[in-house]
Amino acid sequence: MTADEAKREAALKALELVQPGMTLGLGTGSTAAHFVRGLGLRLKAGLRIAGAVATSEATADLARASGVPLLEPGPETRFDLAVDGADEIDPALNLIKGGGGALLREKIVAAAAARFIVIADAGKRTPRLGRFPLPVEVTPFAWPLTAAKVAEALRAAGCARDVLSLRYKDGAPFITDGGNHILDCQAALIPEPSALAALLDATPGVVEHGLFIGLAHEAIVV
Ligand code: A5P
Repeated sequence: MTADEAKREAALKALELVQPGMTLGLGTGSTAAHFVRGLGLRLKAGLRIAGAVATSEATADLARASGVPLLEPGPETRFDLAVDGADEIDPALNLIKGGGGALLREKIVAAAAARFIVIADAGKRTPRLGRFPLPVEVTPFAWPLTAAKVAEALRAAGCARDVLSLRYKDGAPFITDGGNHILDCQAALIPEPSALAALLDATPGVVEHGLFIGLAHEAIVV
């Protein structure tokens, strides 16, 4: 089975959890895209849901093309089920996310979900987080200054490395859906993910980071 076939199978298993009337959170990336397309097929076959919120403009486009009704989140919005991919999953279901640059909206949706399910191919499992470069979303203003503080945080949290690079796309700094930049942080090993998360949360200029600690309820890994 290829990695993409495994992603699709994980997505199809998650689809079995969708019940009529649910409000759904839709993740971003190639695995989440399988879920959105599969949801579209189930809707065409007669399933009715309250609606869904997409975690990126790309997912919103795919949802619209697949016939998935989208909602604007309000103060009372709670997701019965949010389904998203991940870049790394540790045994405690702590995650690195944001390889696709959508970590901010992904975390907002995951944090508002009664049930947040991660779907992934087996290559995403790791005994310890950190091999995948940790994405950190930062304001474009003074980003080099923020980058220096982020490197300090990596060192203070005992990470094995502290090498940062500004993400580029098509020859220019990558811009997230929120208008920010991404620093990809090569930590090699993050010994205490929650300690690093707390340091990053306290760093001015950091809008959000890709450490999802204690948010995932289950992982469907194929
Ligand atoms: C998007 O910002 C990410 O968090 C994705 O969920 C993650 O990168 C996994 O992507 P794939 O499903 O494409 O592997």
